[in-house]
Parts: sequence; C-alpha cells; structure tokens
Amino acid sequence: MKLTIKFISILSLLIAFSCGEKEKKESYSLENGNAVEETKKAEPVSSVKASERIDLTNKGVGPVKSLTLPAEIDPALVLQGQDIYNKMCTACHKPNEKFIGPPPAGVLERRTPEWVMNMILNPEVMIVQDPLAKDLLMEFNGAPMANQNLTEDQARAILEYFRTLK
Ligand code: HEC
Repeated sequence: MKLTIKFISILSLLIAFSCGEKEKKESYSLENGNAVEETKKAEPVSSVKASERIDLTNKGVGPVKSLTLPAEIDPALVLQGQDIYNKMCTACHKPNEKFIGPPPAGVLERRTPEWVMNMILNPEVMIVQDPLAKDLLMEFNGAPMANQNLTEDQARAILEYFRTLK
C-alpha cells in the first residue's frame, strides 16, 4: 500500500514535471509568434521585399555590436576583401544581380554595417532570430546564407569591398 502511494506520487511528480516542460515550450513558441506579429505590425509595407527593405537601425545578432566606418574607403582593404569574396562568396552572390542570394551592391544603403558583419559571421543565428534575416530567408525560398567561417577581420575586409559596389 505504502509502496503504491509512493509510486503514485512519483508518477504524478513526473507528470507535473513533463507538463511543466511542455508549458515552457508552448509559451516560448507563443512569444515567438508574438515577436513575428509585432514585426509584421511594425512593418506595414510588408509588400516591400526583404532584400529591398531599408533598416538602418537593426544591428542584427552576433559578435559585432558597434562599428563606425571611417569616411574614407581603404583601397588596400578593398582588394583584400574582394579577393576573399571571390573565393568564398561568388558561388551564391553576384555583385550586382540576384543569384542564389541577393546582390551586395548598395547593401550599406539598406542595412547597418553591424548587421552585414553579423550576417556574414553568424548567419545561422541571424536567420532564426533576426526579423529581417528571417524574411530574407523566406524571400530566397529557404536557401540559407552560408557560414564561411571567416574571421572578423576577413568579414570587415569584405565589407570594405561592398562599399565600392554601386
Ligand atoms: C551557399 C550559398 C551562399 C554562400 C556561399 C554565401 N551566401 Fe550570402 N546569402 C545567401 C543567401 C541564400 C542569402 C539570402 C537568404 C538568407 O539570408 O538566408 C544570403 C544573404 C547574404 C547577405 C544579406 C544580404 C542582404 O541584402 O541583406 C549578405 C551580406 C551575405 N549573404 C554575404 C555573404 C558573404 C560575404 C559571403 C562569403 C563570405 C556569402 N554571403 C556566402 C547564400 C550564400
């Protein structure tokens, strides 16, 4: 008898625990749902494609929190960036036209330098957590931006190259 009571109380503890886990998950996805709703509300012109949308406040999610570009473009850094871009990015990006991914020309007129850096360095988190990157993924039919495991310096060089693309 005592054993049965013990068994039942352990069982109900287990059930309570697993229910708690479930609740946590549900409220998490609800939060996500809300987040998505809010983004939609904040962006009434949802007819504007993610690749053409201008958002100069969003810094994205990743290692780069703050980056101010100097007024002058550094030509040596541009060459370095172009070289890395040609090796690591042209499988999916063309400078001026849509390919597997969007063209980087003029990207800094649409996004913050931090966002672009984080998209290069941390794409797998960006496409899950960043509202703009999420929409971009949808626009490109679920083809994800690839993490090419670049260092921050390499990404910064590519960014300098992007500044020269018009
Ligand atoms: C395997 C294909 C692939 C490779 C390789 C790739 N990308 Fe992408 N990239 C994409 C796709 C697809 C998107 C858009 C959809 C998404 O974000 O998931 C994208 C999006 C981007 C964006 C956002 C552009 C915008 O207009 O908002 C940037 C910046 C970017 N890539 C830079 C790079 C750089 C730099 C490299 C090389 C280091 C690179 N990508 C390599 C596929 C790729």
